[in-house]
Amino acid sequence: MSRTAVSTLLLVASLFAVTAQAAGTPVPALGVAWYPEQWPEQQWAPDLKLMQAAGVRMVRIGEFGWTAMEPREGVYTLDWMERAIAAAAAHQMVVVIGTPTDAPPAWMSQRYPEILRLDENGRPLRHGARRHFSYTSAKYREFCRLIVEQMARRFGNNPNVVGWQIGNEYADDSTDPDAVRLYHDYLKNKYGTIENLNQQWATAYWSQTYDRWDQIPLGTGHGNPGLLLEYKRFVTTQWRAFQKNQIDAIRLYAPKRQFITTNLGGLGWANRYNRTDISADLDLITWDAYVGQGHNEPYRMGATHDLVRGWKRQNFWVMEIQPGFVDWAGVSNSLDPGETRAMVWQAVGHGAEAVAFWQWRSALNGQEQYHGCLIGPDGTPLPFYAEAKQIGADFAKAAAAIQGTAPVSQVAILHDYDSRWAIDIHRQSNRYDQIEVLLGYYRPLKDLTQSVDIIDPRAPLESYQMLFAPSLNVIPEELGRRLRAYVEAGGHLVLGPRSGMKDEYNSLDIRRQPGPLVPALGARVEQFYPLLEDVPVQGAWGSGKATIWAETLAPRPGTETTLTYGEGNGWLTGHPAAVTKTLGKGRITYIGALLDAPLMRAAVKSLLDTTGLRPRVLAVPEGVEVNRRVGNGREVYVLVNHSPRAAKVTLAGPMRDVLNGGEIREAAMGPYGVVVATPAR
Ligand code: GAL
Repeated sequence: MSRTAVSTLLLVASLFAVTAQAAGTPVPALGVAWYPEQWPEQQWAPDLKLMQAAGVRMVRIGEFGWTAMEPREGVYTLDWMERAIAAAAAHQMVVVIGTPTDAPPAWMSQRYPEILRLDENGRPLRHGARRHFSYTSAKYREFCRLIVEQMARRFGNNPNVVGWQIGNEYADDSTDPDAVRLYHDYLKNKYGTIENLNQQWATAYWSQTYDRWDQIPLGTGHGNPGLLLEYKRFVTTQWRAFQKNQIDAIRLYAPKRQFITTNLGGLGWANRYNRTDISADLDLITWDAYVGQGHNEPYRMGATHDLVRGWKRQNFWVMEIQPGFVDWAGVSNSLDPGETRAMVWQAVGHGAEAVAFWQWRSALNGQEQYHGCLIGPDGTPLPFYAEAKQIGADFAKAAAAIQGTAPVSQVAILHDYDSRWAIDIHRQSNRYDQIEVLLGYYRPLKDLTQSVDIIDPRAPLESYQMLFAPSLNVIPEELGRRLRAYVEAGGHLVLGPRSGMKDEYNSLDIRRQPGPLVPALGARVEQFYPLLEDVPVQGAWGSGKATIWAETLAPRPGTETTLTYGEGNGWLTGHPAAVTKTLGKGRITYIGALLDAPLMRAAVKSLLDTTGLRPRVLAVPEGVEVNRRVGNGREVYVLVNHSPRAAKVTLAGPMRDVLNGGEIREAAMGPYGVVVATPAR
């Protein structure tokens, strides 16, 4: 494996492709969610005129508009949509069409109650909100296919349509009879025999042994950990099938030039289904980046963009971002003036190719009247409009610098849905928050390398000099082999607590932690301990506290101890907390405890040094984030000041100030300021 910075850069750049951006979409593009069906048609042109003046280049339409498209069963009325697309085009905007399948019409809910979602208690949802459909209902999928085919036949060749968004933020599973039938088919297909399933789930426990597939309950509440984990995988297959049904309908008529996406919600981290798997069938990943109450948390938001970029290992779109504020938080406060712009540029720095506001204008009635938007009920600009307009102007200036570039990282964090689920199924400590654990690694890594990928363990690993696996609870044999091969070839793998405890069926690994990697590490975990109180820990990385979770390790000769527990908890005192070992051309490290922030930073710094990783970083004051995108022989820096105080950054050399023009050696940023800079030639 090559370990030079240049070859890594080239390799990663080739693996981490820029998106398949549809022809005709500017990069970066500013967009808005527009619901023309909610307004009299005379209102369209004045709205579009204001959008155009703000630099909006993309509108998403159609989402939730099923009743306007099929007012009665089998009667399709798409003329209005054609006129809306033409009107947008006349204002220099491309269109993404949303399929309306998140909100089936009232006639359907009434005439075909089998399309309704049943909750975990078997109760059907009522009409009047959205997401009242069952994702597994065969009848509902048929209705979806029919409407989407009509739309694709009509707009698949429309040159102003650049892409399709399926549904909206897939969320809830269902317990209807179709779901149960599909679930039993899934289990039969995966396990082959009921005896095999009984063995893998150790069902002798509590008389859970099954004689027939139809005895097996859905994994919606409490239950056997094997069953609960498998249910999550089943839910993933069903959302994927729900989506594929529409992809196939679109592709009957739509050329590849039109991308297919869905807007993933749940603040990015939601894990009701495996988002890497959902992404496999899509051309482009888009997600909805909301803050809700409070202010943007730059590390968390940045890590979320990196997570999203990792699902397909390519650039992405932010399909929805709040225009200042939302309507659903405890306190739906507004972000500060300029803070949304900083957030938008942060997204671009992390690989966004387009960012769209939800929404342009609130419907006069309906559940979301209070939400932030760009224009008011009278059709004239709200205060936030000016900030959006500045972003539009920014994007126009930055297009040449940004287009064709993507972030490049030398280190990656592994994020694994099986492990997320396995730990969530039984947390053992309600203080063990897996996202926080991941961010505990992410923060120092981002500071010290300025670019971090977050990837699925099944992704290609070779291009990374270091991999961090904060809570890789489930390590099946095959993954164990891949990780070992990665290390032997020269990589450095750092495992965090709870790693390698379970096999793919969520059964305890009889080798103890880290399961298949025990021989590679030359150590195993003797015992885990959720902590109520912090415990001192010290060693080669410095001293500090173990917090929330601690494991004792037993190294064999040849494996070095890097941290040891001090006095505190009698079970831990004097035992190794972290160990490391060279293997082949690489190294494997296991950190059995969560560490306080300063010690974590020292540990990460020391691990980077040991690996010989010396990333090029700009020294920045607290609150300023550095992002770098490269590609096509170009590089562009996106510096974002997330703080309400002014800040200065000395650049690596003379640079061109993309947004303000001129050459600069120092980036002077006001509160929430942004500097986009490319090396001066
Ligand atoms: C999103 C959803 C939008 C809108 C928005 C409000 O989750 O996709 O349709 O409801 O929230 O913040």
